[in-house]
Amino acid sequence: MIDIVCGGQAGDEGKGKISAYLSYKGSYAYCVRVGGPNAGHTVVQNGTSYTLKNIPSGFLNPATKLVLGAGAYTKTEWLLKELEVTGTAERLIIDPHAVLITEEETARERGAAHFMSHIGSVGTGLGQAVKDRIERRSVKFAKDEPLLKEFIQDVPELLNKALDRGEDILLEGTQGIKLSLLHGEYPFVTSRDTTAATFLGEAGLGPKSVRDVYVVFKPYITRVGPGPLAHEMTDEKELEIYHTKGHEIGSVSKRLRRIGAFEKTSASRAIMINNCTKIAITHIDMFAGNDRVKKYEDFTPQAKAFLEDLKALSREVYPHPEIALISTGPDMEDTLVL
Ligand code: IMP
Ligand code: MG
Repeated sequence: MIDIVCGGQAGDEGKGKISAYLSYKGSYAYCVRVGGPNAGHTVVQNGTSYTLKNIPSGFLNPATKLVLGAGAYTKTEWLLKELEVTGTAERLIIDPHAVLITEEETARERGAAHFMSHIGSVGTGLGQAVKDRIERRSVKFAKDEPLLKEFIQDVPELLNKALDRGEDILLEGTQGIKLSLLHGEYPFVTSRDTTAATFLGEAGLGPKSVRDVYVVFKPYITRVGPGPLAHEMTDEKELEIYHTKGHEIGSVSKRLRRIGAFEKTSASRAIMINNCTKIAITHIDMFAGNDRVKKYEDFTPQAKAFLEDLKALSREVYPHPEIALISTGPDMEDTLVL
């Protein structure tokens, strides 16, 4: 069966950590990534931190094969570097129609004030590569790159045969509902839809084999670019705590993230549109006194109040997900399973 990890806010909810945890503790045969290198997913294990922009966060489990679907966008040099740092070249599989972003596409995006200042693009060139593909121009596919020849396989066939054998797949999405091209806060969105159904299509999978959809939330919202953010924090001292203890600095863009309050409206939409069955909360330790809490009873009243509010919200929104995972610190192991 397939489990999917989606973002419930404006990206950077901690999808990398949750995917890493699920994959490390679980027995997924494949961990699949779709989307572009504008999304940085952070994984921390025993104090070593990895920022992944190209490969799936499930790499910590040596038994899990790593897959880039046809809806994945990467850059050859960035990908090869990441394979080296993580020592995962033996386990990588790439769909022939995954797209390699060219230098020209990156330069075009970085040179356009509309993208860089108005939309706040990360500047990887993803949006330009997507645009070239939609316009049916000659994009560079993974199958056309000699350096990637050894990784190329028919991904839909590989994954669907695995499902037929009863194996499990973890599908890791990027960004979050507020950044969805279809359901987000247009025009302050990314160049793709960022919901579960789209991630499936981008991987070459269908909806019938989905078991769980995890939607990841923080108790607050961050945004690295412009766009709506309710009750945005302006107090310099408070902001500094988020930027230091909370590591709320863009993992790809290196910009200081804007901080806003948890938004019930966008959370409801994320639950609904993704068909969320399991909620994962990260950064609960940003409420003072909740570092590495091991039991629900030990959360502070402030953290419990947030969790109870979210439970109440989920009772109102189909398909009424349960809170399944709570991350209480940066390390992959700092995770409470409910
Ligand atoms: P683009 O996708 O690089 O064009 O960026 C469009 C908007 O989405 C900008 O506000 C970016 O900061 C934001 N964005 C894109 N990818 C991510 C991400 O992975 N995390 C957080 N924000 C992102
Ligand atoms: Mg990120």
